Amino acid sequence: MIKYKINDNIKPGELDCFFRGWKSPPSLKMKGKLLNGSDLIVTAREDGMLVGFLTAISDGAMHAFISLVEVLETHQGKGIGSHLMRRVVDYFKGYYDIVLITDPDKALFYKKHGFHEVYSMYIRDFEYERRK
Ligand SMILES: CC(C)(COP(=O)(O)OP(=O)(O)OC[C@H]1O[C@@H](n2cnc3c(N)ncnc32)[C@H](O)[C@@H]1OP(=O)(O)O)[C@@H](O)C(=O)NCCC(=O)NCCS
Repeated sequence: MIKYKINDNIKPGELDCFFRGWKSPPSLKMKGKLLNGSDLIVTAREDGMLVGFLTAISDGAMHAFISLVEVLETHQGKGIGSHLMRRVVDYFKGYYDIVLITDPDKALFYKKHGFHEVYSMYIRDFEYERRK
């Protein structure tokens, strides 16, 4: 059975099996930093093992940004990502906006949770770790 928890403690090493297919996945040090810096962490665990997680940052009033949603490859397609999304949308209910950045092939997944496409702008740096 999968157990979900809000603001569970994740050890950086528990994220080693995630970020598959990323062009520049975060190092262990960076994983620790992003976990410490997140305002919301939602975990999905099976017999204690982390099988999915979601992180978000927020100003605590109007705006929330979902920074990561990841489910282990072996556990995808079983409703875990959807459950994580329902928890985050519920957590930030009443906020002016909840935003995230994704690829077009994931759009349908987020649309199922009430997200709409918007015009947006960003700077992305694939060398981000090397510049720290
Ligand atoms: C995207 C992701 C979080 C979805 O989690 P999941 O647990 O596999 O998704 P669910 O089982 O809850 O699927 C819910 C629905 O979304 C659909 N869906 C899941 N992944 C999808 C994808 N990549 N593209 C389109 N639809 C998708 C499922 O088919 C399902 O549809 P249904 O309700 O009609 O059956 C997960 O596949 C994942 O971690 N992928 C790798 C990392 C990633 O891409 N993260 C998102 C970065 S923006």
